Amino acid sequence: DAQHPFQNTPNTDFSIPANRAWIERLVAQWKTKTFDTLPITVGGQEVQTETVVDGHDPSRPGHLLYRYSCGDASQVELALATAKRAQTGWDALGITKRAEILRSFAAVAAEERGDLIGVMMGDAGKAVVESDAEISEAIDFAEYYSRSLDTDGWYDGTSPTALGVVVVTPPWNFPYAIPAGGCLAALMAGNTVILKPAPETVLTAWYLACQLWKAGVPRDVLQFLPLIDGENGTKLLSDDRVGAVVLTGAYSTAQLFKSWKPNMRLYAETSGKNSMIISSAADLDLAIKDLVQGAFGHAGQKCSATSLAIVQRDVYESEQFRSQLRDAAASMHVASAWDLTAEVTPIIREPHAELQRGLTQLEPGETWLLEPKMIDNNPCLWSPGIRLGVKPGSWYHRTECFGPVLGIIPVDTLDEAIAIQNDSEFGLTGGLYSLDVDEIAQWRDAVEVGNAYINRSTTGAIVQRQPFGGWKHSSVGTGAKAGGPNYVASFKHWQQTSPSV
Ligand code: SER
Repeated sequence: DAQHPFQNTPNTDFSIPANRAWIERLVAQWKTKTFDTLPITVGGQEVQTETVVDGHDPSRPGHLLYRYSCGDASQVELALATAKRAQTGWDALGITKRAEILRSFAAVAAEERGDLIGVMMGDAGKAVVESDAEISEAIDFAEYYSRSLDTDGWYDGTSPTALGVVVVTPPWNFPYAIPAGGCLAALMAGNTVILKPAPETVLTAWYLACQLWKAGVPRDVLQFLPLIDGENGTKLLSDDRVGAVVLTGAYSTAQLFKSWKPNMRLYAETSGKNSMIISSAADLDLAIKDLVQGAFGHAGQKCSATSLAIVQRDVYESEQFRSQLRDAAASMHVASAWDLTAEVTPIIREPHAELQRGLTQLEPGETWLLEPKMIDNNPCLWSPGIRLGVKPGSWYHRTECFGPVLGIIPVDTLDEAIAIQNDSEFGLTGGLYSLDVDEIAQWRDAVEVGNAYINRSTTGAIVQRQPFGGWKHSSVGTGAKAGGPNYVASFKHWQQTSPSV
């Protein structure tokens, strides 16, 4: 509202000694923490089930961090029936009350920031600054969405109805902010939510659910239902009581969901193959600093990560570019997430086939500017890799590897660079580094991505300032961007009632 306008929440400043001491204490405490088996929460009850799955810490191979219960078919049915029944009452609560609950969530998240950092370091192998940023983003989602339905503006005769039951199926790479965003938007719009966490990061999702309950969301309005059995997942997502499904994951997963129920209302943020153009007119110091951050931050496991640099030939051939980029990447500290100085942390699980190929096998004509290596005998921990001479149309150009590897394509002109950048089935994020205003104008008009960043890293969208969402196969069914206008409104049916004349 006008008296309390939205403002982004700052990240923790770890250069302040008191914050440094705080995080050191926290790491010591959370590294040795043990957890009881996590229950599912359906029908308003916490339940321990027969199917129990192990949760691992990617920084410590073989280390069992926690165990969690998984739902079966009868629990899927109970969750759906409960969500359906609870929806009317939750909707009737009204916007003002639900907005208050969202703001209470923001307060709880701020209060428990340290705990959540500890949880994500273990559960997702996320470096402290990356974990910290997720908490800021979740707080921003809560504060921003709590103001959304007030300010989006309704027209005369237009009335909204909630979609009903929303199933949120988040990814493991942003195990806190992304599920928080989906749950908060759906809840704000008067829907009930079944949260089905990513199997790799159930602990983080459990903490999120607990915080939502603590903030005042009833347990039948937000249910927590880990599932590993594919059949139960299909049953949940394709049920006719489900009004919408929110997914962040691979494009193929979105297609799979659609194959189960072709008329599913699906809001999916999907894959990417994001590139950054470095023109001859770039500020090279800035470009390289952001390039290594965008490519190797969270070990390259962001859907927004920079996977390709498309570099004008004079820069590409120069010894300055090559040595500066190699040194910048090689000097990043590759270590366990529990190490506070870590810059490149473990990948979530041992490399899948495509990432393995990206990390170990060159395509014809390519050379390593920096060859990736496994570190500390941990199959999840890899140092950054940089491939030179990537050819347009090659395997690496086309494939999302989702790990700490970057490829470089040389080009002669900006036109050629833009053509290669757009020659992708995906269109999530993209960047241009240039100080030439004409180049910037040309690029802005031509680039086919949802988030187009000028002289800024391709990762780390900020709520309200950079609403997030892709084009092409980087999204399925989403129109409104997360963290932007109309996102909450998209969790409503809109009805125009007109008089007879
Ligand atoms: N929103 C994240 C980013 O911008 C990706 O999901 O990096």
